[in-house]
Amino acid sequence: MHDIEGWELSRRAMLAGSAATVAVGGAQVAPAAASKTADASATTMPIAFEVNGTTHDLTLDTRTTLLDALREHLAFTGTKKGCDHGQCGACTVIVDGRRINSCLTLAVMHPGARITTIEGLGTLDHLHPMQAAFIRHDGYQCGYCTPGQICSAVSVLDEIKRGIPSHVSESLLDPPHATEMEIRERMSGNICRCGAYSNILEAITEMAGSEA
Ligand code: FES
Ligand code: FES
Repeated sequence: MHDIEGWELSRRAMLAGSAATVAVGGAQVAPAAASKTADASATTMPIAFEVNGTTHDLTLDTRTTLLDALREHLAFTGTKKGCDHGQCGACTVIVDGRRINSCLTLAVMHPGARITTIEGLGTLDHLHPMQAAFIRHDGYQCGYCTPGQICSAVSVLDEIKRGIPSHVSESLLDPPHATEMEIRERMSGNICRCGAYSNILEAITEMAGSEA
């Protein structure tokens, strides 16, 4: 705490002031405008998107990540929260055909999106071929990373099929092939603490062969 010309600037007041500054991106605002940003009603928003073929209407705090919306509000707990910082890939889901880390994006950024989680890829009776391949090749141990790995793996083969190059592709013009190097590079954002990598690679390679 500091005593500045007769009045005390408490730590709490200083933090509140900093938060208001951050909320408006550093712009100069009148106190009334600043307090508006703290209005609870201004922090929620209606949002609708499709998850695994069903449309869901939600009203969410605008700070809710897509991961928390899926897990906490819609009970799609197949999508896992590992690091919550975009570093492990456990939260990977497919949004409008592209895989993303759902912990790194806000739910309200995806109005009308088509989202696929592990629950939407296959069911116990009708497994997705990639799920079946993971089982055949023993591609998991604790299984915590597995939903993200499988969502990622499905997208990886789709990316290769669509000719999207990666960091290790030899040419930006010729279509990439599902080589071991390509698969390893493209799956590098999905961390497995159990170290089931070689079996995961075998499963994806088998699927790549069957799709070729
Ligand atoms: S939980 Fe999203 S990347 Fe780790
Ligand atoms: S199977 Fe345990 S973290 Fe991957």
